[in-house]
Amino acid sequence: MSSSPVIEAIREKLDIVDIVRDYVPALKKAGRNYKAPCPFHNEKTPSFTVSPDKQIFYCFGCNEGGDMFTFVMKIEGLTFPEAARKLSLKAGVEYGEERSHVMTQEDRERLDLKKLLSAAEEFYHKNLFLPAGEKARLYLGERRLSKATVERFGLGWAPPGGSALIEEMKAKGWSRDLALKAGLVTEREGGLVVDTFRGRIMFPIRNQAGETVAFGGRVLDPQAQPKYLNSPETVLFSKRRTLYGIHEALPQIRKTGRLLLLEGYMDVIGAHQHGVDWAVAPLGTALTTEHAGFIGRYAKDTIVMFDGDRAGINASVRAAEIFMEAGMYVRLADLGCTLDPDEFLNEHGREEFEKKLAQASDPLEFRVNLFFKKRAVPPGSQEKAQAIAVLLETVAKQPDEILKSEWVKTLSSRFGVQEDSVLKQLKKAPVARSSSRQNKEQAVSTMPSLEHDFIQMLLRAPALLEQSAELTPGDFSDDFARRLFTALKELPREAHTKVVSLLTEKFPDDSARILQLALSDITGDTDLLQNTTRAVRTLKCFSLERQLKQLKADGRWEEHNKMRAELESLKKNS
Ligand code: UTP
Ligand code: MN
Repeated sequence: MSSSPVIEAIREKLDIVDIVRDYVPALKKAGRNYKAPCPFHNEKTPSFTVSPDKQIFYCFGCNEGGDMFTFVMKIEGLTFPEAARKLSLKAGVEYGEERSHVMTQEDRERLDLKKLLSAAEEFYHKNLFLPAGEKARLYLGERRLSKATVERFGLGWAPPGGSALIEEMKAKGWSRDLALKAGLVTEREGGLVVDTFRGRIMFPIRNQAGETVAFGGRVLDPQAQPKYLNSPETVLFSKRRTLYGIHEALPQIRKTGRLLLLEGYMDVIGAHQHGVDWAVAPLGTALTTEHAGFIGRYAKDTIVMFDGDRAGINASVRAAEIFMEAGMYVRLADLGCTLDPDEFLNEHGREEFEKKLAQASDPLEFRVNLFFKKRAVPPGSQEKAQAIAVLLETVAKQPDEILKSEWVKTLSSRFGVQEDSVLKQLKKAPVARSSSRQNKEQAVSTMPSLEHDFIQMLLRAPALLEQSAELTPGDFSDDFARRLFTALKELPREAHTKVVSLLTEKFPDDSARILQLALSDITGDTDLLQNTTRAVRTLKCFSLERQLKQLKADGRWEEHNKMRAELESLKKNS
């Protein structure tokens, strides 16, 4: 992380607590710090901590942490200069032109890619309104999209030839290499490149900040394959993390806490056109845990509504299970017919659509209803047993024990079987594995506890360094403690207010451990720590004892005896 007068001015004007709260409304005061469920991973008990004193954040669950710049970079997926620019606006600090000195090569490439993608979006959009775009315009009209909607979502048309975009980009001076990296052109055998999207309606895929990071393209010709083609994964675009429509839907989702998850591009666009502007969709992938984590950050009430066909229903059940495994509550909605959400809205309008949303049910009820809906006559015993066995898979995945037992009751009453038998059967069902556990590894500290507590205290109150003058780095047995102590001693006095940021900058590989030390509750003997002089003396004693052992082992008796006298007098005076 870089430091400059501008960056320092931003730091001074802004408070990390306010910045974090914009993204994490649940942030609550807890002692001297603030806490909330972590925005970077799924959790129910808050381990995400923000320190107003230190102006840093740290999550004890997933070890993400840093200062206000790191926070904005991570949560918005921005480069440092982009995050700094954003914060400079908030702070009312003049940021100046792209400050290339704070940009890494990687940052510069990301910026170039975004510029190129935005130029491509403009090109596709322009083509939609050229005479050759007529068929595409007609198609969008058939799908009942208004001009305003087309503009809002930046839809376009990719000419069929295979070189239209390439020519345009060449004329504008963009390199072939960058176009390849953006996924806009594709290399064929022999090194020839062609436009990736040919003869397709173009849907710009935007990140949360509204920047175009990829495209989806839909064919016009119903025979052509695939129906939808997405940009390949790039440094800007990861399908697993992206939700279509998120930029457009976020204001409403933030306002009301509700989110509607639909299946595809056209559904999202149709929903927004009808005023259902809290709708988003994954992109031709099943819902991922990354999606669920992101959604959990903003939405308290999530409804999943996929197409009414078999594939859509299966996908919505799978999506619900991903949410459940992430410890989130969702409801599933069903249009009760084979129409896609966008078709339904066009046929029946928003009011009818919202009625269907209001009837959304929890994942188990949804599946039970589905089972009974298909049946004209009540199921026989074997059929019941089979159905319950399948439904228990959903129950087994529910981590909330209360809900789980509610669901057992539901199954017993809906199928008219003993609750006890359902429970027994549940015990036999395969155990759900928790997928969110992997990244919870703590940055384990092997530091001896006194050294740990002492360093922790210095991070809190660097002024105590003055009382530690007699300690040398060599008095610490742990290598990490030694390095931190050395760095702390070297800090100029003025730097004491941002000691944690400076240290994480100095030791980037250990930043998680440093943040953890700075923000965790003091676990050790606080009495001892309150008396710094005593702590210093104890550390010194331990250090001398260690050195004595070594001298003894080396047979250096003269030095040994001298040091022993030193130790004795130190102990006597304490
Ligand atoms: P659908 O085939 O249900 O598309 O795929 P749709 O939304 O109803 O499309 P229209 O109404 O015919 O235009 C649902 C979603 O799955 C992804 C897309 O994100 C699509 O919106 N998909 C589908 C692909 O990525 N590739 C495909 O070939 C098909
Ligand atoms: Mn459709």
